Amino acid sequence: MPLAPAEFDFVRRMVAERAGIVLSSTQGYLVESKLNAVVQTTGLHSIEELMTDLRRGASSRLRERVAEAMTINETSFFRDIHPFDALRSAIIPAIAAARKSERKLSIWCAASSSGQEPYTMAIILAEHFPELADWNVKILATDLSDEMLARSREGIYTQFEVNRGLPVRLLVKYFDRKGTDWQVREPLRKMIEFRKLNLTMPWPALPIFDFVSIRNVLIYFDNASKRSIFEHIRTHIRSDGYMLLGGSETLLGLNVPFGRHEVDKSVFYRPV
Ligand SMILES: C[S@@+](CC[C@H](N)C(=O)[O-])C[C@H]1O[C@@H](n2cnc3c(N)ncnc32)[C@H](O)[C@@H]1O
Repeated sequence: MPLAPAEFDFVRRMVAERAGIVLSSTQGYLVESKLNAVVQTTGLHSIEELMTDLRRGASSRLRERVAEAMTINETSFFRDIHPFDALRSAIIPAIAAARKSERKLSIWCAASSSGQEPYTMAIILAEHFPELADWNVKILATDLSDEMLARSREGIYTQFEVNRGLPVRLLVKYFDRKGTDWQVREPLRKMIEFRKLNLTMPWPALPIFDFVSIRNVLIYFDNASKRSIFEHIRTHIRSDGYMLLGGSETLLGLNVPFGRHEVDKSVFYRPV
């Protein structure tokens, strides 16, 4: 039985408040199936029971779980490939040249899902920039979802997941077999710090980054939230740094202080 409009509305408001995610009224069935998944993992008996708990002011953790369940975690290694080619051929060399006296490089992957994106960056650094091995290199990867962060820290991926985008040569070089799965080797895992960060809530203290990747997450937010997230990112990115969005995302119409910077087939953004 589909969710009643009033229930859908209640969930929609709660998810918008907690995660900035804007659910559309055509997503009733999706929302229902995600609520079912929450019911199954929380020991409740039905969506009705879950809704009653939520309406009675359920624990903040339960509300968080519902908001997290509404997110889409689709990701893969070397997703959309071109931006990673550009990172290797132009962006990292430019940052490395600008930081050669400091010998410091810092990257933030916001909305990192199950970790394939920050691991892709770590692989690129390890594979193509051995000269940075003794620099102070930091990769911070953040996401809203505790479950995705736990998966990322473990760095264990199925055969299907590694087949999506990861060249075999890099798989055998940077991963170990773990039963039928593959685990990222420790040196690469140690390059990344995974932390919880909800982009639409007050942020914890963050350093200033040379490169920020915030891909395929904008789609969830309304324009006001997007604008405030980008203005906030601007305060955490070096004035000669770079930002990368997802392939179908743009800053057009948001009036935020970044300019386009094209490298071959990819668009990066730089503070202006
Ligand atoms: C589609 S995945 C994108 C993963 C990766 N960046 C990529 O492009 O392959 C979107 C991620 O955004 C996260 N997310 C959604 N709302 C968020 C929020 N308010 N704050 C932080 N992360 C959020 C989800 O948990 C999910 O892991």
